[in-house]
Amino acid sequence: MIRITSHSLTGEPLFHLRAGDASYVFCVFHGFLLHLYCGPAVEDDDLTPLLVKVGHDSVVPRPADTPEGWFSLDIAPQEFPVWGTGDYRPSALMIRCADGSAATSLRYVSHEVFAGKPAVDAQPAVFASEDEADTLAVILSDPGSGVTVRLLYTAIRALPAVIRRAVVENPTDSPVTIERCASASLDVATWAEPAELLHLWGTWGRERTVQRTPLAHGTVSVSSRRGASSHHHNPFAALVTARTTETAGPAIGLSLIYAGNFEILADTDPFGSIRFTAGIEPTDFTWRLEPGESFVSPEAVLSISGEGLGKMSRTFHRLWRRHLCRSEWADRTRPVLVNNWEATYFNFDSEKLLAIARDAAACGIEMLVMDDGWFGTRNDDRSSLGDWFVNEEKLPGGLSPLVERINALGLKFGIWFEPEMISPKSRLYDAHPDWALGTPGRDKSVARSQYVLDMTRPDVRDYLFETISNVLSSANIEYVKWDFNRNLTEAASATLPPERQGEVMHRYVLGLYDLLERITAAYPHLLLEGCSSGGGRFDPAMLYYAPQYWTSDDTDAMERLDIQLGTSFVYPASAMSCHVSASPNHQTRRVTSFETRGHVAMGGAFGYELDLTTLTDEEKDLIRRQVADYHRYYGLINRGDFYRLILPGDTVNGKTGGCAAWMTVSEDRSEALVTFVVIRASIHPVYFLRLEGLDPAAKYREESTGAVTAGSTLMRAGINLTSARRGGWTDGSSVVMHFTRI
Ligand code: GLA
Repeated sequence: MIRITSHSLTGEPLFHLRAGDASYVFCVFHGFLLHLYCGPAVEDDDLTPLLVKVGHDSVVPRPADTPEGWFSLDIAPQEFPVWGTGDYRPSALMIRCADGSAATSLRYVSHEVFAGKPAVDAQPAVFASEDEADTLAVILSDPGSGVTVRLLYTAIRALPAVIRRAVVENPTDSPVTIERCASASLDVATWAEPAELLHLWGTWGRERTVQRTPLAHGTVSVSSRRGASSHHHNPFAALVTARTTETAGPAIGLSLIYAGNFEILADTDPFGSIRFTAGIEPTDFTWRLEPGESFVSPEAVLSISGEGLGKMSRTFHRLWRRHLCRSEWADRTRPVLVNNWEATYFNFDSEKLLAIARDAAACGIEMLVMDDGWFGTRNDDRSSLGDWFVNEEKLPGGLSPLVERINALGLKFGIWFEPEMISPKSRLYDAHPDWALGTPGRDKSVARSQYVLDMTRPDVRDYLFETISNVLSSANIEYVKWDFNRNLTEAASATLPPERQGEVMHRYVLGLYDLLERITAAYPHLLLEGCSSGGGRFDPAMLYYAPQYWTSDDTDAMERLDIQLGTSFVYPASAMSCHVSASPNHQTRRVTSFETRGHVAMGGAFGYELDLTTLTDEEKDLIRRQVADYHRYYGLINRGDFYRLILPGDTVNGKTGGCAAWMTVSEDRSEALVTFVVIRASIHPVYFLRLEGLDPAAKYREESTGAVTAGSTLMRAGINLTSARRGGWTDGSSVVMHFTRI
């Protein structure tokens, strides 16, 4: 719902967006768009009394046409601050006009309201019907240059989520250059208590580690300049207070639907107002806007919670599942797969794959995925990317006979690609050296012996579409793992003029979207899984196309606790691809029981990644049971509400890092699945677990013990797990408990 009134002082419009149980309020004040409130719902519209009126000294400038007194853009809480006219904090927008000047001043012109959420362009975006959302467009203009900005706000009716983006339009007759353009910005001016930025950092094998950074006066930012959203920081941060926990306190989560360079910053001014901004990272970014053209920013999503981080996460989960992920697989039950990467690496042929497939079929596994190494002359990672034709030495007769035999075993078949890359040792590079990104006269940096294709070029994308289509049409291929194993360097394109080279990083991402759009439109039934050396580009933009993403190359179950629970801050279980791999684990050499590896991998889209032909009969039996369990609990795991109960870094009974726990509850609260893992056992352990999300008035039966307990007891007093495991608790031991309402 969007309520538009006018405020008492100036009569200018006041906008109150109600999204779920949250309010987002801002107003026009002397033509400027000022932010008033973002948090749990409030009833009043006119929150202008919340505007901070501090006296400022004479050195702080004021727009000449505003009344003398307290008003200053450097102090006022703003909605979309611009550069050069007296707000010295980080700007949301900076444009350079044809005359070289960069000072702009955005003033309110008009607004429009729409039911639903109109599509703006082909970038990944939240979708919602006319019954599900309301959209407000506020049009602003810079009187000096004539450039206009449309700020789009969508309030989702059933969820406390507000979606924002900015569209910069150039109706003038000279070009302008955008040097910085955020997707969303808000100034949180009323918290008046210690604030923190929660964000997810990482690197290869350690994706999405949770960190809370206290905000001090100055700027704290997380970003990627790698050409991809990256392992290093996820395009997400949450503004929280020091007292915010999983279940209490304010949290404003800000997630950018973008697969490229991003920056999310929190800047605290001298009066304690926190500017929270997300958008494209401005390093090496410029965008030339010709007369009549417009530039559309990526979308940013605010998940607004007054009840802690758990609720913030659950809002993101529902939004992504219901309003972002477009695949027909978004809510469909995905097949349990086995991937041959950690089983064989590059060393496989048809017979080896068939041997794995035979064991997979006998264990109830539903799909075989053939990973890297099936094309060109690729027997290691030093060649052939770009040469997307089958290596018949490994797969005699091509894909079709192999896939037919795998299908005959009752298994689906999936395949690996790394479309955006080119090996210097490839037929493609011999034919088209200029198709790789690179600066003329400079060496190209190599990573994993490969270069990056110039995805800004339509001819490159046509080639990829054609060659990938040829493979996909050559056999019954029902799944693709879309990998991306290096970041961009020397990001220049042979086809763009000098003044547009600053556009390459963003055009690359738009080119990637274009190719993904074409592939998903041509193969609508394909199950697409994203991957980037593990989870290096695990972001909402990729989830728009691919309903699941390979969470990390680190498949160690204990490490996966950090990675998967960290990922859960923004992404639902259904998006996290999680596999049972070999023990000792290939990354950490840690030994973990088959049972626990299964329990942890069931935290997401479930599968296996080990050589099934080497397993004992007992282990194969366990796989049969795990697959059956996963099928039984599929809806709960992938469509339920997710609660983090104990994070691996929490202190429980004086021990830090000793255990972890999470649960999912069906939407109607009739069922719950609880997983508890002991990471490091200790002498005389005492474990209690308080559950969440149940119906307090109902009684629940736990499946394995038959115990019947009231929801209120399970949630308030908790359950005693001290002796819940037969044989006692050892390092890496776990239990899964299934509760049903009676
Ligand atoms: C990346 C992926 C792995 C695997 C290899 C193949 O590292 O994350 O899962 O596909 O590439 O080269």
